[in-house]
Amino acid sequence: MSKKGFIFDLDGVIVDTAKYHFLAWQRLAKGLDIDFTEEENEQLKGVSRVRSLEKILAWGNKTISQELFNELMGKKNEEYLSFIAEMDQNEILPDVPRVLNLLKEMDQPISLGSASKNARTILERVNLRSNFNAIVDGNDVSKAKPDPEVFLIAAKQINIAPKDCIVFEDSVAGVTAANSANMISIGIGSKDVLGHATYVFSDFTEISDDFIKSLIEN
Ligand code: BG6
Ligand code: MG
Repeated sequence: MSKKGFIFDLDGVIVDTAKYHFLAWQRLAKGLDIDFTEEENEQLKGVSRVRSLEKILAWGNKTISQELFNELMGKKNEEYLSFIAEMDQNEILPDVPRVLNLLKEMDQPISLGSASKNARTILERVNLRSNFNAIVDGNDVSKAKPDPEVFLIAAKQINIAPKDCIVFEDSVAGVTAANSANMISIGIGSKDVLGHATYVFSDFTEISDDFIKSLIEN
């Protein structure tokens, strides 16, 4: 059987952590007297922690010292970690385990390709760590999505050429990164937002076993 490399983003693809990022950023923004909406939070999907804080400050027209910037980054993460600590398998998004199991049955290499520095902790919380042959996350890259670095490292780690890799992504920046890496991109979310992906599905329940098999065979 031919082998393809399957690369999964984490936040918004495997688990719905966007709500926790939002709560933590919202509290921080409030402390700075910045109004931070759910629409703005959409724009932070796939965006690194540093870049997210820079964007929030820009929206609120605020400049702060480097020292305070670092302190706020630490505080945001502490709060986010307190939410993660409560996570369990119930937070895995529908049908993700079915697709992961099918890929395993078909002996296809699987990697994580996430911007998060908390990816390993989250995978352990939801008990999916052992489903991945490689994990590439925010600790392993120097350039954040939309740069393709994270996916190119993932492809290398599972030993599959980029053109034979398939990326599951929920963010605009992530789909752009996958496309720049010359990979097939599968957008998870709305066609209006992820129209630049090779395929778009609203969630994994829409992705059939036959579709996955056709990706492997072609
Ligand atoms: C991405 C999320 O996966 O990871 C972003 O979509 C988040 O919202 C980024 O900012 C970095 O995550 P972390 O856990 O390192 O702060
Ligand atoms: Mg994501």
